[in-house]
Amino acid sequence: MGKPKVCFVLGGPGAGKGTACEFLVKKHGLAHLSAGDLLREERKRAGSQFGELIEECIVQGTIVPVEITCQLLENAMNKIMVDSKGEQDKFLIDGFPRNVDNLQGWTKQMDGKTDDRIVLYLNCPLEVCESRIMERSKTSGRSDDNIEALRKRFKTYEESTKGIIEHYRDLGKVREVDSSLTKEEVGETVSRIVEQDLTDVQQPSVSGDH
Ligand code: C5P
Ligand code: MG
Repeated sequence: MGKPKVCFVLGGPGAGKGTACEFLVKKHGLAHLSAGDLLREERKRAGSQFGELIEECIVQGTIVPVEITCQLLENAMNKIMVDSKGEQDKFLIDGFPRNVDNLQGWTKQMDGKTDDRIVLYLNCPLEVCESRIMERSKTSGRSDDNIEALRKRFKTYEESTKGIIEHYRDLGKVREVDSSLTKEEVGETVSRIVEQDLTDVQQPSVSGDH
């Protein structure tokens, strides 16, 4: 059993990270861990000592300290591996790492534990992201799906997350996708990427050894 293979999924708010991940879960059976969803769950968990801090960050569009987020991710990952008896070894980690603190915390806590393969970068003009989020705000019930919080989230994305994407680009790990297209089109593209980069291809045997 190898180390769990990780595909980070990054892009601005409304770029379609959750939608692309849903597509990949259905088509390829990958496990999907959304950092934002895990934080929202922790926020509402009775007895959580981090609830208020998480809510404050979410409405301000800032990033929660990595010790909290990374622990939630590691716990969720371990649970999936235990429940699947080690069968599930491919993870989409959505919305992480979003800033330098996230990146350093992950490197420190997860060093040697995972095989971080690629970053799926969903690139979408912010005007398109904005109209998607404003549409979603009609039904999402999210405390940060409103124009004030959204502007703050865009700022964090521009100032903090883009640098992380560039860091991974320098390592040759970024797979960039135009996510302003329809969800089916984006789904097909991300699906090809995942097939190529998250699957271990058996090396064909050389010479006549049958
Ligand atoms: O990814 P999503 O849009 O669900 O994230 C919502 C919010 O959760 C972010 O704006 C941020 O406040 C928080 N978050 C975080 N650290 C992450 C992911 C999300 O603090 N790595
Ligand atoms: Mg999401």
